[in-house]
This record gives sequence, structure tokens and C-alpha cells, in this order.
Amino acid sequence: MQSSYIGKPHSYFDVIDSTNSYALELISKSNPSEGTAISAGYQTNGRGQIGRKWDGEQDKNLYSSIILKPAFIPANDQFCLNQVVSLAVSSAIDDYIPKRSKIKWPNDIYIENRKICGILIQNMLSGANIQYSVIGIGININQEEFHPDIPNPTSIYMEKNLYSDITEVRNTLFSYVEYWYEMLKKDKKNEINKCYHENMYRIGQSTTFKYENSYIRGTIEGVNDKGKLMLKKENEIKAFNLNEIKMLID
Ligand code: BTN
Repeated sequence: MQSSYIGKPHSYFDVIDSTNSYALELISKSNPSEGTAISAGYQTNGRGQIGRKWDGEQDKNLYSSIILKPAFIPANDQFCLNQVVSLAVSSAIDDYIPKRSKIKWPNDIYIENRKICGILIQNMLSGANIQYSVIGIGININQEEFHPDIPNPTSIYMEKNLYSDITEVRNTLFSYVEYWYEMLKKDKKNEINKCYHENMYRIGQSTTFKYENSYIRGTIEGVNDKGKLMLKKENEIKAFNLNEIKMLID
């Protein structure tokens, strides 16, 4: 399976500060074509969600950013991009490991209760639409051990005791990103939403979250069209933003 425009052109750096930062800089200086990708063997300042860091060993994992130009997506509908990217990454990982991956809201990829991939999407708006989107993806591939500060990590290697070819995983990933992004272009939102929910981590299960300064427990009902997590608690459904709650992993 070969992508036709995702990963074309593709720039590879042995070491970079962050592939997302590089992509944002490229956008500020030029007009990169849709699908342009940047990858690295190591990031000195890898960026994660909510201002966190993303670390990993050199030449062991996938660190890539893809530039999209989703002008057809209204700014207040941007969660559909998170959905297609999560589905693409989840499909790519499933090609390499025996267990099925799950999407932990909003867009972490989990194998059972362990995180194998993080996604950082940075959108640049123009009026009411998205002008550019930088899709940053970090997949743990051949790393065998992680720093004890990293909560519940796993890698493709840890899941099957075999090393994988990072370039091959990347090409697989690019093809799936193209497939799912094309679904979005064709406005197959219902199908995308259905697949996202089918693959959602802990859907229908009672789960504990840190909320404000205490803990709440509720059943994960799904996400709404604004990308908020819907939790059912005592027959009432409430929607939460990512910065409001933190899921606690057993
Ligand atoms: C997270 O789970 O917090 C998101 C992590 C995203 C990491 C990737 S690695 C490639 C790209 N460049 C970055 O600096 N971050 C993303």
C-alpha cells in the first residue's frame, strides 16, 4: 500500500528540536504542499499535549509530522481531524502487533492499558476554517525500556518481542492517514464517527477521572461532535474538555 500525497515530499533529520516545530516554521516561511512530512531519528524538544514533553530513544521510534490543508473543515468542527488521525494510527499499529489497539480519548493509542502512541495536532485557523494542520505522531516502535517517569508505556517491540523497520511502519502510517483523510474529504463523517466509537478505549465502562481537586466515576458514553468526552453519572450525561478531567488508568 503506497500513499500518493501523504509523505510527499518527506524530509528526514537525524536530530531535530521537534518535527512539529519544524513544520510550523515551514508554514510560516513558505507554502508547503498538502502531505509534506518531516521525520526525525531523535527530538531534543519533542512536544506533547497540554504543554508536556515527548521523549524517546534515538533511532528506536517514529517521530513524524504531516502538514495538511483542510480548508474544507470549519474551525468548530476540528475534532473530526483528531478522529481520522487516531483511526489511521490505530490501523497502522494493528498491522504490526497481535492485539488490537484502542483510541483513548481524545487521541492516544493504547494497547490494553498501555500507551503506544501520542498525537499532537496543531491547527492554524483562517477565519472560520482550518488553513493548516500539523499532525504530529510519535509511535513507540523498537524501544525496550522507558524512563520510570513515563506512565504505562509500551512499544511494538514490547508487544511482540520483534524489532520492526521504522521506515516501513512510517510508509504504512502515511497510507492509512491518506485513506482516512480522504474519507473525511468525501464527508463520510458518520462512518468515521462510528469507527472511532467502535475503537474507543473503555467505552461503556465505568471509569475514574481526576476532576478539579477530587475524583469522579462515570461510564464513558462516547464523544460529542465538539470532541468533548461524555460521561454518564447517576443517569445524567455530562460533557468534559481535555483540560478539565484526567482519566485514571487501573
Ligand atoms: C502526547 O501524547 O502528548 C502527544 C505526543 C506527540 C509526539 C509527536 S513526536 C512527533 C511530533 N513532534 C513533536 O514534537 N511532537 C509530535
